[in-house]
Amino acid sequence: MIGPEPLGWRAVAPTEPDPPSRPGDLRPRVHRDVVSFVRRSSRMNTSQQRNWDAWHDRYVIDVRRGERDTSVHPDATVDWAATFGRVGPLVVEVGSGTGDSLIPMAAARPDHDVVAFEVFEPAVASTIGRLGREGVENVRIVMGDAVEGLTHLFAPASIAEIWIFFPDPWHKLKHHKRRLVDAELARVAHRVVVPGGRLRLATDWADYAHAMRELLDAAPGWANDHPDDDGWAPRFAERPVTKYERRGLEAGRRVHDLTYRRLP
Ligand SMILES: C[S@@+](CC[C@H](N)C(=O)[O-])C[C@H]1O[C@@H](n2cnc3c(N)ncnc32)[C@H](O)[C@@H]1O
Repeated sequence: MIGPEPLGWRAVAPTEPDPPSRPGDLRPRVHRDVVSFVRRSSRMNTSQQRNWDAWHDRYVIDVRRGERDTSVHPDATVDWAATFGRVGPLVVEVGSGTGDSLIPMAAARPDHDVVAFEVFEPAVASTIGRLGREGVENVRIVMGDAVEGLTHLFAPASIAEIWIFFPDPWHKLKHHKRRLVDAELARVAHRVVVPGGRLRLATDWADYAHAMRELLDAAPGWANDHPDDDGWAPRFAERPVTKYERRGLEAGRRVHDLTYRRLP
């Protein structure tokens, strides 16, 4: 966390220290002293509060918290088959924001079950309001850190695809350590994605795109789907143009897509 907590921040969950790792526990240890987000005011406007009250129980999965109110406790569990009422291919979106990609992409894949992680409560409220109004059934949201969530809430080789679109760029060199896509994310994602499954990324920041490509090209167990085109994937056709992409293009930046395949 950087700086003081902004006014309006409210603690949302009890805190408990993480337990020591259990013998035989093959999950990677995650070290989240530095995270890819900052605490912002969680004050919701009237319509977000209304969305929250109306749709929270249907779409938001409350998980046991760890040390921070955005943490996922190592002993937290979710039975995804029971949650969705079926066993469909699972897709996870990391950092879904206000759901501008999540909602149309999930609606276009009604046979998939889509789990989104987002730490910013007002954005979750906006997302669930739209999900409810549009009657999209195959989405659930965990309000918490995706790296911990991927580590603790999913069985090995259980996710068909992970999507990370326009992660916060953290421009300053001293903040690069906050970037979401790092070696830890590559390791955590590798455990949970099914062999042959995909990690799909997009960013409008060239230096972050190059850093992701370098990192994932070198990451054990991942193969770039498009090695012959300098490693860049064609634009993922299912991905709608969101405000982040539009802003980048208007500022003259190229949007880079990347697709990695989980090796057996
Ligand atoms: C720049 S926004 C992009 C939102 C969305 N993907 C889009 O393209 O419209 C990045 C989002 O990721 C969220 N985020 C950052 N780190 C996260 C983490 N570790 N777990 C869950 N959400 C995270 C932020 O709160 C923010 O809403």
